[in-house]
Amino acid sequence: MDTKAIKEMDRAHVIYSWAAQGTVDPIIMDRAEGIYQWDTDGKRYIDFCSGLLNINIGHGNRHVLDAMKAQAEKLCYVGTMFGSEPKARLAKMISEVTPGDLDYSFFTNGGAEAIENAIKAVRMFTGRHKIYSRWRSYHGATAGAITLTGDPRRWAAEPGIPGAVKFFGPYPYRDPFGGKTEEETNQKALDALKTQVMLDGPKTIAAIFLEPIVGTNGIIIPGKTFMQGVRQICDENGILLVADETMAGWGRAGKWFGIEHFDVVPDIITTAKGLTSGYVQLGAMIWNKKLWDYFQDHPFVGGLTYGGHALGCATGIANIEVYRKEGLIENSAENGAYMLNKLEALKENHPCVGDVRGKGLWAAIEFTSDRATKAPLAGFNNSIQNVAPDFVKKLAELGLTLFAKWDFVFIAPPLIITKEQIDDAVGIIDEALYVVDKKIT
Ligand SMILES: Cc1ncc(COP(=O)(O)O)c(C=O)c1O
Repeated sequence: MDTKAIKEMDRAHVIYSWAAQGTVDPIIMDRAEGIYQWDTDGKRYIDFCSGLLNINIGHGNRHVLDAMKAQAEKLCYVGTMFGSEPKARLAKMISEVTPGDLDYSFFTNGGAEAIENAIKAVRMFTGRHKIYSRWRSYHGATAGAITLTGDPRRWAAEPGIPGAVKFFGPYPYRDPFGGKTEEETNQKALDALKTQVMLDGPKTIAAIFLEPIVGTNGIIIPGKTFMQGVRQICDENGILLVADETMAGWGRAGKWFGIEHFDVVPDIITTAKGLTSGYVQLGAMIWNKKLWDYFQDHPFVGGLTYGGHALGCATGIANIEVYRKEGLIENSAENGAYMLNKLEALKENHPCVGDVRGKGLWAAIEFTSDRATKAPLAGFNNSIQNVAPDFVKKLAELGLTLFAKWDFVFIAPPLIITKEQIDDAVGIIDEALYVVDKKIT
């Protein structure tokens, strides 16, 4: 079928996420291999945000495809009341790479469902109902997960589930508390959270949910002061700490899990995306021993038809094998540092680049209309200037796809990327940034 016919059918019948349907005009993708994807007209694009920041091992990995094929021919699915070798092996392999005693997995279809089940688990475990999460956060689109989400995607779902409370995390580039240094920013955010918890009643709070590194709200990286301080608030008050590693996990930030950067061990990890690199959908809620022990004689009231899907779990196993065999976590740390330097150098020629930050093969550029005052260019949830769509369009013309919104450009290539491929990609970004520079005047 030619591109025009597919597109016509698509726009006649397909509903797209987060969009006014009349404005959607998708590139029709046909196939993908490694860090590249091709559209139906044969044009090649560098996939510089790994699908939706999930194709961590790259497209078309032969080892994973073979494992999937073998599992599909043997057993695709079995009811959740039964055990299966892929489910048991994947849970064990996850326990080998998670920090501390996070050794027990409940499988879901994706990140939001992992959050929903974590909300239930922390409430059942503590007997408390309040859940804390950050203003600048995204936790998924289902009822509980979107209520925990701090960004505008929550607004349409309000009032949401009861008991959700928001707090400010550290944001060094735009500190709401006016901190001048990174350390000050962290301390001020921590002090504010301590006060909020005290006023709110520490014994009414079941858990604090946070992305160890904030993802789609701008790749905001906290410091150890804040993260270890949050752990301490939790320990002192019987509050559970839940790390949402949907995006930060599986090597994206240069370690198996983002939380490892802060020497903090959470009580629960929720994850998805890089667990299977999107070859098939799978997520997980991972408990520590304290939760595991509690639920030995208290029922965990939660379940999904597709929990522990055999094909999904076999795909997860093969992914972990690839991460290990190909040294992808190490590659993310090493080539991530290389990529960050190259991105920082873009500041020289582009006044629109306000801030560049990242960890591993995961970075953001934040635009500004004035580097001295840090004035936003598009602005929060705003499109005074049509920055992101025009920039993304120019990149696509030049053969690169990534995800951008408001003043943020999200950069997250597959972890297999080489330094030469990073050079190519950053060269394209360099060229496209002139489109954004022009908007400052
Ligand atoms: C941090 C975080 N949590 C949860 C989710 C939701 O995951 P899913 O879309 O698989 O439900 C996402 C998705 O981007 C995410 O980035």
